Amino acid sequence: MNVKLYNQPLEKIGAELTLEFVDAKTFETHPHHALLTQAGFKAEQEQLCALHEHRLLVCGIDKEMSDELYRSAMATAVKSAMSYAYTSLKCSQYTPERFRALIEGVVLGSYKFESYKSEPKPSKLTEVIFSNENNDGSSNAIDTLETILTQTLVIAKATNFVRSLVNQTPDDMTPKQMAITADILAQSNNLECTILDVNGLEDEKMFAMLSVGRGSAHPPRLIHLAYKPENPKRVITLVGKGLTYDSGGLSLKAATSMVTMKMDKAGGCAVMGIIKAVSELKLDIEVHAFIGAVENMISGNAYKPDDVLRAKNGKTIEVRNTDAEGRLVLADVLGYAQENVKADFLFDYATLTGACMVALGPYTTGVMGHNEALKQEWIEAGAASGEYCGMLPFNRHLKKLIKSDLADVCNVSSKPYGGAITAALFLDNFIDEDMKEKWVHFDIAGSAYTESAWDVHTYGGTGAGVRMTLNWLMEHCK
Ligand code: BES
Ligand code: ZN
Ligand code: ZN
Repeated sequence: MNVKLYNQPLEKIGAELTLEFVDAKTFETHPHHALLTQAGFKAEQEQLCALHEHRLLVCGIDKEMSDELYRSAMATAVKSAMSYAYTSLKCSQYTPERFRALIEGVVLGSYKFESYKSEPKPSKLTEVIFSNENNDGSSNAIDTLETILTQTLVIAKATNFVRSLVNQTPDDMTPKQMAITADILAQSNNLECTILDVNGLEDEKMFAMLSVGRGSAHPPRLIHLAYKPENPKRVITLVGKGLTYDSGGLSLKAATSMVTMKMDKAGGCAVMGIIKAVSELKLDIEVHAFIGAVENMISGNAYKPDDVLRAKNGKTIEVRNTDAEGRLVLADVLGYAQENVKADFLFDYATLTGACMVALGPYTTGVMGHNEALKQEWIEAGAASGEYCGMLPFNRHLKKLIKSDLADVCNVSSKPYGGAITAALFLDNFIDEDMKEKWVHFDIAGSAYTESAWDVHTYGGTGAGVRMTLNWLMEHCK
């Protein structure tokens, strides 16, 4: 979808369809009040009514009228507009922040993934034009709006890029293919790219990650992308779980839980999208993205419950469940990342636990770590960018649940509650002492993928992590 901004009043802009947001109050005095009422329109949030004879699409908006409601309403409206035969849509906007939300609504709401359809159905609608004039006759400085448009498009498109990676099947997006994708991104965006294959991983003594991948016909890769501007204000390390498929391994998942596990690479895809956006916005921040790309499968050679693995940092891990594989991969990738880059902050993104969804519901990212103030910054970055984040607190009793009688630590908890937190406390074993306060872990198990549309999200990958991270980086690394 092409998104344009014209320095013109709305009525002067030539477009086939006009979109108007209407709340209960403006509805009372609306010029088409009678017609809309007849059609059953009540100005409820996201309620749509198309008055084709007036080339008008009306979208209801709740009285709260927050940016979040506008973002979501715009996504719904644009999807509806795409089902007609109009080629262009125009709309006015209100505040600069609302403009950002509306652009996100357009770009994220109009996203379709049709690579696996033999007959894709492209929509006729190809452009959405915003007027810089508000519906009350006031207007915003065009420069301010242009900056917002450019910036928001980069971030929203990076989010869609992540979605499309996540949506690819496990047979198409193997660890090797993830490495190829990273390499292509590196070439187009001027990033450094280093890939370790099995030999490289052996040289680095990354036996936890290697064990997880041992049962697969698609051997693992470690991907390191780096964006290095000349005088960076900060150095940031991002680590992503890139399980291109999680069958559970020998602790095999139940048939119904296995479906959708192609999305277990969403953390790895997210860090690729983040570094893409950072490099396109030319931010003065050095960013390193590390991805552990692995497939967790069964075979005569697969790793087993009862194995003891030695991670890169020397710690030994008792495996009691091969389905808790993400934390094993992250243990080694976190170790490798900290050894190779001295960063100001370390953030990891992982579809790590079903327990995170039990705790927070299916839309919210779990935020965990030792630094309370830093976690609070992320809660705010989430709220400001339109992603839901919730903090899950550590405590010393939960830490005892992953003790092992045999090795240094066990990969699963001895109790069936608080699984998102005990998984994060497992990762804590692989965070160096000097990084403890600089580390935040994001469990995106619920937020990274959806099988039914919600907010700006369509079926499939959501691109969770991208918008909130760009918001945090731009706010805290100035
Ligand atoms: N990839 C899964 C977590 C997951 C579950 C993500 C559902 C998205 C949706 C992870 O590797 C896993 O299987 N975790 C186990 C951990 C358990 C064995 C301690 C889980 O959540 O059941
Ligand atoms: Zn698993
Ligand atoms: Zn997994």
